[in-house]
Amino acid sequence: MKLSAAVLLALVAVQAAVLLAAVPSAQAGELQVGYYNKKCKGLENVVKWNVIKALKANRRTGAALIRLLFHDCFVRGCDGSVLLDASYDNPHPEKEAPVNIGLAAFDLLEEIKAAVEKRCPGVVSCSDLLIYAARDAASILSNGHVHFDVPAGRLDGFVSKAEEAQAELPDSAHDAQKLIDNFARKNFTVEELVILSGAHSIGQGHCSSFTGRLSEPANQITPAYRNLLNYKCPQGSNPTVDNNVRDEDYDVVARFMPGFVSRVRKIPDFLDNSYYHNNLAKIVTFHSDWTLLTHKEAFGHVKEYAENGTLWDEDFAESLVKLSELPMPAGSKGEIRKKCSVINHRLY
Ligand code: HEM
Repeated sequence: MKLSAAVLLALVAVQAAVLLAAVPSAQAGELQVGYYNKKCKGLENVVKWNVIKALKANRRTGAALIRLLFHDCFVRGCDGSVLLDASYDNPHPEKEAPVNIGLAAFDLLEEIKAAVEKRCPGVVSCSDLLIYAARDAASILSNGHVHFDVPAGRLDGFVSKAEEAQAELPDSAHDAQKLIDNFARKNFTVEELVILSGAHSIGQGHCSSFTGRLSEPANQITPAYRNLLNYKCPQGSNPTVDNNVRDEDYDVVARFMPGFVSRVRKIPDFLDNSYYHNNLAKIVTFHSDWTLLTHKEAFGHVKEYAENGTLWDEDFAESLVKLSELPMPAGSKGEIRKKCSVINHRLY
């Protein structure tokens, strides 16, 4: 007897559902500050110690952790889905989405996870570890000005799809309205979009992420800064450029923006409200940053945070907590992964 393709597909789907039901999994409960106090004593110190060590070697890793939090939580909620590697069952995970270019710090998270597994096996989710690590990075990079408690108790998800990440995450070529709509879909306001964009005071971007900026008119990008980018980008294949011009090489800044050299920093990646000053001066890398000046309400917030750095520190911390509370899709199940880059059992 020959089975039709439709019947075969239905059988495979039923088999997959039965197997998935057999995988040990649970639904996440309410998030709580101090969730691991009894379950895994000293956990937050283990994370902090590892983050301090990593950032001593390279502060940029802190920027990578903060971006990872955003890219994990905006897609299927904070479920560690961005951490999963490609596998036989899932050849195109979120990591592979073009919008995820440049994501880093995966190795650090895996090291932290291994240390935590030794201490308390099977207890702490990778999604929680990512939020703790990003929180510590934000605190270190801001000299303690950005600080917050982390509500925890997340589970690690089973699903990670490149096409979902590409559809959900904002694009650096987007105009203000598209960004506003994108954030509104996750229940974030215009103000929160402006607050969170302030994370671009740290880290780097690939030239391919801002090719349009290299030929934008002078009312959108300061010509001296555009010349600097045009000088840096042809060097090598798709090199990276610092998001904050004060982190650039002294010689390059002296050549293209001599009036700016006094602001060049010996220590890079300092998380503060300088992004808003840079934005008003039209010396930001991404079109998605500049475009905030074209929207009346967003522009007002850019000015507000340029004037009040302390307010930004507090509001940024609050918005990161809100990001970190984005839930998995209703009814989703999860687990405590043994390794952050793979789910514990094959699904099929
Ligand atoms: C508003 C929409 C946003 C867009 C369009 C955007 C886009 C980008 C792009 C294109 C890069 C550079 C990627 C590369 O070429 O390697 C980048 C870097 C970065 N983004 Fe965003 N981003 C946005 C919002 C955010 C938010 C909400 C956060 C965190 C709260 C964030 C944190 C960062 C950080 C820290 C970096 C530097 C990462 C590193 O150096 O490893 N971004 N962003």
